[in-house]
Amino acid sequence: MENLPLHVGIIMDGNGRWAVRRGLPRIEGHRKGAETTEKIVIAASNLGIKYLSLYAFSTENWKRPKEEVNFLFSLMYEYVRSKLDLFLENNVKFRTMGRVWELPDYLQEGFAWMEEQTAHCTGMTAIFAVNYGGRQEIIDAVNSILREGLDSIDQETFRHYLYIPELPDLDLLIRTSGELRISNFLLWQSAYTELWFTETLWPDFTEEEFRRALEDFSKRERRFGGIK
Ligand code: FPP
Repeated sequence: MENLPLHVGIIMDGNGRWAVRRGLPRIEGHRKGAETTEKIVIAASNLGIKYLSLYAFSTENWKRPKEEVNFLFSLMYEYVRSKLDLFLENNVKFRTMGRVWELPDYLQEGFAWMEEQTAHCTGMTAIFAVNYGGRQEIIDAVNSILREGLDSIDQETFRHYLYIPELPDLDLLIRTSGELRISNFLLWQSAYTELWFTETLWPDFTEEEFRRALEDFSKRERRFGGIK
């Protein structure tokens, strides 16, 4: 495939609705959604994507019922504890992004373990945004800058204070479930991002649809504020 995006982000939305439409508890939607996540990580890696950022838990998701929040955390823990071989076979590096230090200890340990085990992988980097908020990332960066006593910075310097400084700008953002919003995802990195929306709920999202998003992206003319 030509003109592949270097960095793809996905807002994996619609798990709850998927479950409710089937008369199932919302958590069943998350369970099915995690299976989709697994498939898309592998698909993206096979297609040659270099960075895939997945919005798994936002700084606003704490407002959900405690049981749902705890279920999501345990699902993510189960995911990292069971997918190491898959990541290694596909040479995929696992990273997290967000205020991970505020998560339960067991989950922090699970994430740190998975990051260590895959640190040598040189293929795609799969970034799980957990307890992540775009505004919070910017504020955390500003506070680091203040602590260092800098009194003036430029854009390139600012980037060094983001959660993953080497993460390139977001080329393509995919959001499932028909919502047309950014929802506080990668605000700094999405200044010139191409947006792609689908009505499909995340648990029903397929590799085929992912490829369609990439094909649409490849035909877009990106001018970054300039002229052709
Ligand atoms: C949005 O759907 C989804 C989330 C808030 C969580 C995303 C999490 C996953 C896809 C699974 C996480 C696990 C792993 C291993 C990545 P929603 O609940 O807001 O759906 P709704 O809008 O239909 O209610």
